Amino acid sequence: MDSGPPSRKRSTSHPTLSFPIIYLLSANISSQELQNFEDQIPTLTYDINEAEVVLGKVFRKERAQFELRKLGVNTDEVDPLKRSASAAPPKKRRMRPSPPLASSDLDSDTASDGEIQKRLAGPAPAEPTIRVVKLAWFTESIKTGEVLPIDNYVVYEGRRVSQGPAKSSQPPPADKAASIMERALADAASRPSSSRPGSSQGGRGATYATHPVRPALHRQTTSEQERNTHLPPIPDYLHTTYSCQRPTPVHPPNEDFIEELEKIRTARTLTGDKIGVRAYSSAIATVAAYPYKFQTSQEVARLPGCGDKIALLFKEFKDTGRIQEARQDESDPKLAVLKLFYDIWGVAETTARDFYNRGWRDLDDIVEYGWDTLTRVQQIGVKYYDEFQLKIPRAEVESISETILAHANKICQGFEMVIVGGYRRGKTASGDVDVVLSHRDESATDHFVERIVISLERAGYITHTLSLSTANSERRQQPVEWKGNDRKAGTGFDTLDKALVVWQDPNWEGKDASQSQSERKKNPNPHRRVDIIISPWKTAGCAVLGWSSGTTFQRDLRRYCKKELGLKFDSSGIRNRTTGVWVDLESGPDGSPAPDMLTAERRVFDGLGLEWRPPEERCTR
Ligand SMILES: *[C@@H]1O[C@H](CO)[C@@H](O)[C@H](O)[C@H]1NC(C)=O
Repeated sequence: MDSGPPSRKRSTSHPTLSFPIIYLLSANISSQELQNFEDQIPTLTYDINEAEVVLGKVFRKERAQFELRKLGVNTDEVDPLKRSASAAPPKKRRMRPSPPLASSDLDSDTASDGEIQKRLAGPAPAEPTIRVVKLAWFTESIKTGEVLPIDNYVVYEGRRVSQGPAKSSQPPPADKAASIMERALADAASRPSSSRPGSSQGGRGATYATHPVRPALHRQTTSEQERNTHLPPIPDYLHTTYSCQRPTPVHPPNEDFIEELEKIRTARTLTGDKIGVRAYSSAIATVAAYPYKFQTSQEVARLPGCGDKIALLFKEFKDTGRIQEARQDESDPKLAVLKLFYDIWGVAETTARDFYNRGWRDLDDIVEYGWDTLTRVQQIGVKYYDEFQLKIPRAEVESISETILAHANKICQGFEMVIVGGYRRGKTASGDVDVVLSHRDESATDHFVERIVISLERAGYITHTLSLSTANSERRQQPVEWKGNDRKAGTGFDTLDKALVVWQDPNWEGKDASQSQSERKKNPNPHRRVDIIISPWKTAGCAVLGWSSGTTFQRDLRRYCKKELGLKFDSSGIRNRTTGVWVDLESGPDGSPAPDMLTAERRVFDGLGLEWRPPEERCTR
């Protein structure tokens, strides 16, 4: 029946009008509307590759480019001033004389008459272009019974380019430092790795050593060799691979180098390289605990968790002031987009990649094309994206925490609180506010999290509850049951009752004055992320320890408990890995409860055989 090309839809509605070959975008068009257009367009194609005009409810250039990208069409933009002026392609199609541009062209952009003249005068393009055009061009052409000049309706015009990498994603020209690094890496890789006793990673020369002393880079300048004889001693605590056994200050001497390493780690996170993330985390934790400013790469290579790879990165950093690999998320457009999405609260790296694979490239894309597919929490994360990026000064962390404690004590006298998170580690500004609340009377903390959230909601402080967990109350506030070593390591350290909320101070200057005015002002206070964690008294020390320390410190604390002690650490309590029985390290010898939450935390260190580290020394990042 249909003898046309399979991709072309046959239509008989307007056989007399010579439209170019049209591809119809379905975005923002209802299925009924879509059906109508499909019936009306005589030259409709379903194959984007043969389309001359792409028709759709598209009003912005970026959006048009996005739609084309989604269809796999790469284009270079044609300067609007050099656009072709005709509706039909230059081939056989006949053009009716164009009517003068009417002022009633509602869809016209803000182009001045002069600009339009220039457009009309522009030369015809050498190669066929693809134009994304507003629907109005088609509907008005149908209405007037002739194909109207298309120029005024063009949202975007691009010249098709082959599927090679886009200009912006081409690697930057290798500079001198990069090629030096390549040679150095090749050197390191070609060195026999069998020189390391017990190494099972043959062939991977530039890898991460866990042994403290390694031969470092062979090529050194004389001055470097001289300095090597004066290498500072490695502090004893750096001979351990457990970062929970070392002091790690918030501002270590090699902080600038660490910041570069952190950028590489972030890139590894975004690309799903879990092993790389672990390796960089270990290296960063070690460098952060090193008490001297590095002078040579040899000094770096001998440290646990560092080795040749990190030493080479240090050499590059020292020579050039930066690390090329760390600049990836600035130079690689894909990484930049992944980072943007990853920074949405509620979006992990896998979701960020999923968003990218759906063709989205910025927050507007998410809002326009994916809003309904987001979880409620992700929608809130997008909505308050900018506000959640703002850091919270210490004074505000304190005032938010005081409000929470006051509400707790209004519900039930006798609550105690420790502000945990980055604030407790001494950060001058925090990404969010974390507080642990506890009460000596175990019945007071039971299902308390719901009550405090309701109280703070009523008072107007909590605007959204992102997550409310009552798992601990539901198992009668008993430390989570341990099902044996075979099982995957549970749900991490956050098995306590907790509320993750969005917070906004409802009090602001001029609030009452404007309520009476016709024009209401908006609350100018930024929305903040706040975590309220409730712990029963008997495990409050674990709660405070678990929520105060840097990520790698946490990781190593769990690893230490497992490998060295046969225990399982969790913020809701410590258990014997063999029997699953709760191990109480917090009560006194006579079984009396800890006098306060910070003493309880010290007793956990003690009970685990760890030297006490104040939170300011747990900044493993
Ligand atoms: C775990 O429990 C078993 C059996 O009671 C005991 O022998 C072992 O010492 C305990 N381990 C720890 C680390 O307390």
